[in-house]
Amino acid sequence: MNFQIKTNEGYEAAYRQSIEQPEQFWDDVAKEYQWQQPWSKTLTWNFEEPNVKWFEGGKLNITENCLDRHLEKNGTKTALIWEPNDPKEPFLKFTYEELHSRVCIMANILKGMGIKKGDRVCIYLPMIPELSFAVLACARIGAIHSVVFAGFSVNAVADRIQDSGCEYCITSDGLNRGAKQIPIKSVVDEAVESCPTIKKVLVINRINWPVEMKEGRDFWYHIERTKVSDDCPAEEMDSEDPLFILYTSGSTGKPKGVVHTCAGYMVYSGYTFSNVFQYQENEVYWCTADVGWVTGHSYLIYGPLLNGATSLMFEGIPTFPDPGRFWQVIDKHRVNIFYTAPTAIRSLMAAGIDHVLAYSLHSLRVLGSVGEPINEEAWHWYHTHVGKGKCPIVDTWWQTETGGIMISALAGISELIPAHAGLPLPGIQPILVNNDGTEIIGNNVEGHLCIKFPWPSIIRTTWGDHERCRINYFSTYKNLYFTGDGARREANGMYRIIGRVDDVINVSGHRFGTAEIENAINQNKKVVESAVVGFPHPIKGQGIYAYVILLAPTDTPNHMRDEIVETVAEHIGRIAKPDKIQFVSALPKTRSGKIMRRILRKVADGELETLGDTSTLLDPLVVDEIIKGRL
Ligand code: WTA
Repeated sequence: MNFQIKTNEGYEAAYRQSIEQPEQFWDDVAKEYQWQQPWSKTLTWNFEEPNVKWFEGGKLNITENCLDRHLEKNGTKTALIWEPNDPKEPFLKFTYEELHSRVCIMANILKGMGIKKGDRVCIYLPMIPELSFAVLACARIGAIHSVVFAGFSVNAVADRIQDSGCEYCITSDGLNRGAKQIPIKSVVDEAVESCPTIKKVLVINRINWPVEMKEGRDFWYHIERTKVSDDCPAEEMDSEDPLFILYTSGSTGKPKGVVHTCAGYMVYSGYTFSNVFQYQENEVYWCTADVGWVTGHSYLIYGPLLNGATSLMFEGIPTFPDPGRFWQVIDKHRVNIFYTAPTAIRSLMAAGIDHVLAYSLHSLRVLGSVGEPINEEAWHWYHTHVGKGKCPIVDTWWQTETGGIMISALAGISELIPAHAGLPLPGIQPILVNNDGTEIIGNNVEGHLCIKFPWPSIIRTTWGDHERCRINYFSTYKNLYFTGDGARREANGMYRIIGRVDDVINVSGHRFGTAEIENAINQNKKVVESAVVGFPHPIKGQGIYAYVILLAPTDTPNHMRDEIVETVAEHIGRIAKPDKIQFVSALPKTRSGKIMRRILRKVADGELETLGDTSTLLDPLVVDEIIKGRL
């Protein structure tokens, strides 16, 4: 598309215009897309309610922009390459024509099930092509997709279905994960028992696992697809109609359903994909994120397809059949742009350099990183051994709530400093504030990262509870969107993200609220109370450290730890299991009963010298006990 920036001067000019004339800037970007009816008002906003609307009056369908628009010139170009878990199984390729047809077939199946515009559909699927079809099919007919990562447990699925009032679910019999096969239809079956809103379930056969099909409720995709045509006109959507809900953890209570809307999300995800990765025609692009997370939404499906790119989807894991798999897939499909997470880089680094050296990797042009701060050691390893010293690394900072990349280098254009996200993209106005909300001016400073002006894909609301959206993101600092992250602005104006400043732990790039994990642990009947903090972990970035008070002391602590891990697995999923569980007789609390997490964090980190003042605690002696029992 014509909005790709080509030079650093081009970036500076675009940035300047985006600040001075934001509406005109985004009008010009938005005109590059296909609209059924143009918008009449570019932007309405206030951060008090908050109320943000972009491209009001416009009508569009994002799938016409992802698919139909490319058919004439690029119908036979590969849209999607699917690489299976098992390298011995054949890979699949779908051209834009084929993908269009598959999406329309899926859309017609969904229509046949009774799904209409505005209905919520829970998608609980592994990384198979049908996951992309399902997401796009929902968008095609105006249904709101809520993708739930297939590693989440029964309770987590049920919570998300209930919160968004999903009436339909799309799942598979099971999934492949390395050498293992895991059934997942049974997870949905169990979840649905506590979700009376669910009317119908569409099931994809991936692993031939025997499943129970409930008459009248459950339907096989491979049977339904033979009954429908591949002609499905795209639903006309208002710019501000919801496109999807995606649940993410915050510092309080249950995960919240972040809502993104059709036009703004489309404009921004497409714009940022083109500019950050500098995608060139005929390149193969691979984002390793699961579609269960926002990165998979914006940069595996929507962003690349909006730009007519070839996007690779990988079903498996980086270590199967061996830790060379990523590199083998890059050579096999001649991947040019590779976008992954620091945790994956660190774990492959730990597996030894030989796995990388076995492959040429000469097709690579651009590398990307996302999800958590990348440490310098991992950055250099990635740059030297994967990129052979010649590929720029874009360290992209953004969030589920921002819909697209906010701070990042533009590949091959911007100056790179290891482990720095860099400068804000056009349209993004970051500021740093101190605790009382005053702006920190100048460079070489550190503070809480906020954004002071809306961009097209800013979170619109949290599903079913707008007040929660206001309180979480717009009430900490007046008239600012608060990210929850701390950052440094260096001498040259570049940003370096430090990490969360709220009670959110980022484990392998996945967000969990401390309260969310504590609630799960407390479900175990033998637990009285718990407190969870993050601690530095060499592979995961942060690990989960749980301090747990038991009803009665245990003689078999390891067994009890396993039990607690199982409780967490049951209530959230294995991805949230604590790395360390320390049994304590009490927690350090203030006289008003508030847990002093600062102290617990320091003990977990081993920073015992700088615990600070403990005299205000209800019972200062508990700190000694906790230090003694430290794991
Ligand atoms: C963190 C993932 C440092 C950050 C796209 C943010 C990062 C949270 C980076 C959002 C990065 C993401 N450098 N930290 N390049 N990217 N983060 O919603 O703490 O899953 O607030 O979105 O991940 O996580 P989320």
